[in-house]
Amino acid sequence: MLATRRLRLRTWKEADLPPFAALNADPRVMEFFPKMLSRAESDERASQVVEHFERHGFGLWAVEVKGGAEFIGFVGLNVPTFTAHFTPCVEIGWRLAYEHWNQGYASEAACAAVAFAFDELRLGEIVALTAVANERSRRVMTRLGMTYSSDDDFEHPGIPEGHSLRRQVLYRLRA
Ligand SMILES: CC(C)(COP(=O)(O)OP(=O)(O)OC[C@H]1O[C@@H](n2cnc3c(N)ncnc32)[C@H](O)[C@@H]1OP(=O)(O)O)[C@@H](O)C(=O)NCCC(=O)NCCS
Repeated sequence: MLATRRLRLRTWKEADLPPFAALNADPRVMEFFPKMLSRAESDERASQVVEHFERHGFGLWAVEVKGGAEFIGFVGLNVPTFTAHFTPCVEIGWRLAYEHWNQGYASEAACAAVAFAFDELRLGEIVALTAVANERSRRVMTRLGMTYSSDDDFEHPGIPEGHSLRRQVLYRLRA
């Protein structure tokens, strides 16, 4: 578990599944993903996150607010399974329920994940990626001190050709 001033980043529990499904079915949260998720798809995604923790010892932590909401989304580290010019790599990522946006929670949690990546895992570099138009996510990346180069723009192999979200940006942060 990691802790910040306002948040706990912890492993997942059964009770996280309903609020996770709710945010995965929210069009505002899923604007920059190819589709919203059904309850079954959301549960499957959560299982993949748990398996990732078992395999790597780290992952996309469930985030709770100290003295507040028990699950607001995830923030953490992930090893992408697709191949691109920057893989293999460890990416940092985030997805919060809409009602918890605009309070600095994603950036606060991500700072703790960055420290874990460099101080505990001793990684040399982490990356972050998102659709070109996802300005909110890109602002989190910039706040973390990550840098962007258009030379790293890429076509996400998991998104169909011709889809508007296929073109993605990559941000990098070195230890
Ligand atoms: C990406 C996402 C996590 C960003 O959420 P966010 O609320 O903009 O980011 P933070 O939690 O770091 O909050 C920062 C914002 O809160 C504001 N803020 C308000 N009160 C604050 C406080 N007390 N402390 C810090 N920031 C505060 C900041 O000014 C900042 O707003 P700005 O970017 O307009 O300047 C959120 O939009 C999301 O979950 N999106 C859907 C999933 C997604 O697209 N994920 C990325 C795909 S790869």
